Amino acid sequence: MQEFGVPEKEIILRLTKLLKDDKKYDSGRILGSMCTKPLTIAIKIYQDFFDKNLGDPGLFPATWAIERDVIRMMSTLLNNPNGVGYCCSGGTEANLIAMRMARNSHDIKHPEIIVPLSAHASFDKAADLMNLDIIKVPLNENYQVDVEGVRAAISKNTVAIVGIAGTTSLGVIDPIKELNEIAIENDIYFHVDAAFGGLVLPFLKRLGYNIPKFDFTLDGVKSITADPHKMGMSPIGTGGIIFRDASIVRSNAFEIPYLAGGNFKQATIIGTRSGASVIATWAIFKYLGIDGYSKIVKKCMNLTHILSKGIKQIDGVSPVIDPIINIVGFESDRYNIHTIDRELRKRGWALGAFPNFLRIVVMPHIRKCHIDEFLSDLEDIVHHLKEKSSYVQKTPVKAF
Ligand SMILES: Cc1ncc(COP(=O)(O)O)c(C=O)c1O
Repeated sequence: MQEFGVPEKEIILRLTKLLKDDKKYDSGRILGSMCTKPLTIAIKIYQDFFDKNLGDPGLFPATWAIERDVIRMMSTLLNNPNGVGYCCSGGTEANLIAMRMARNSHDIKHPEIIVPLSAHASFDKAADLMNLDIIKVPLNENYQVDVEGVRAAISKNTVAIVGIAGTTSLGVIDPIKELNEIAIENDIYFHVDAAFGGLVLPFLKRLGYNIPKFDFTLDGVKSITADPHKMGMSPIGTGGIIFRDASIVRSNAFEIPYLAGGNFKQATIIGTRSGASVIATWAIFKYLGIDGYSKIVKKCMNLTHILSKGIKQIDGVSPVIDPIINIVGFESDRYNIHTIDRELRKRGWALGAFPNFLRIVVMPHIRKCHIDEFLSDLEDIVHHLKEKSSYVQKTPVKAF
């Protein structure tokens, strides 16, 4: 840090220059992110309440009450009016909290968790941090976790089974109902990671899509991750973890002894946490309602189908699966998919790259003109690769 302060005007100028290389959601070029620009109302509200700290709820009891309301709204959406939980820093923290609860629900010396091969890296982090053995079960031909593989992986040390409702890679929904039965039969904690799907699937269902049960309607589901900062369009730093009932949380909360607002028990991993993002989330939920979210999800899904159809029409690339939610993965049986990724990046597109396919998340900041432009660039890139005849051997997608 330099010795003397810099005038505000100059700081703004410097920051404008320093940040010019950051991509902007409005450009429509960010195609591989599960985040988006928060709604305008959320940005305004965030600024108004930036100093609220939910790490000290006794100082901010009204903000705490608003968090309870946000959790109630999410939990009702996930078919459990009695759910409890927290807004946390994101899906990673939510999954860490859930794995901690699972571990503590069983008295086992060498605990193991069973996750799908498609599980988010947050479960590897949980395993590493909490010294859990992680067993990754392969996927079936639909990229869902293989149910019999999960059954076979259970041992006397299993403390958690995880199912995913909206995988990070392809947006697939695991056979949650079957996993639920296995969890009940074996009395094992069952967590559903719906970090992305949690604020998509309930609206798709309302729109008439055939969405299997994935939430608290299934008796064995003990907790669900659902992140407002993904399809909820909240400010970054708003994840969500919801538990079936208070008993799980109560016995696993830490008493924080020094708080200015008075001692308080909490089960989040982080201490100081943003109240502004929670208040902004409350505002968005109220502003949009189920109807508003459904309209946004409908628009995203319409674009998703246009995109998937457009990819199918380009010779040399094809969608990995027909999209289930607003995520499209595509592969190539002729060209190196990472060459395609590099060429797309040169043209300013930012997709998600998996070992054998590229992935687009059709978020609310993406418009029809962006999809058209993208498809035209993709076609052009593939055309050039064809001219160079850089054909490659296809590697199977299932290797991821
Ligand atoms: C299914 C799933 N779970 C968890 C996460 C982690 O969320 P975050 O990046 O908010 O920590 C992601 C992120 O993409 C995800 O897709």
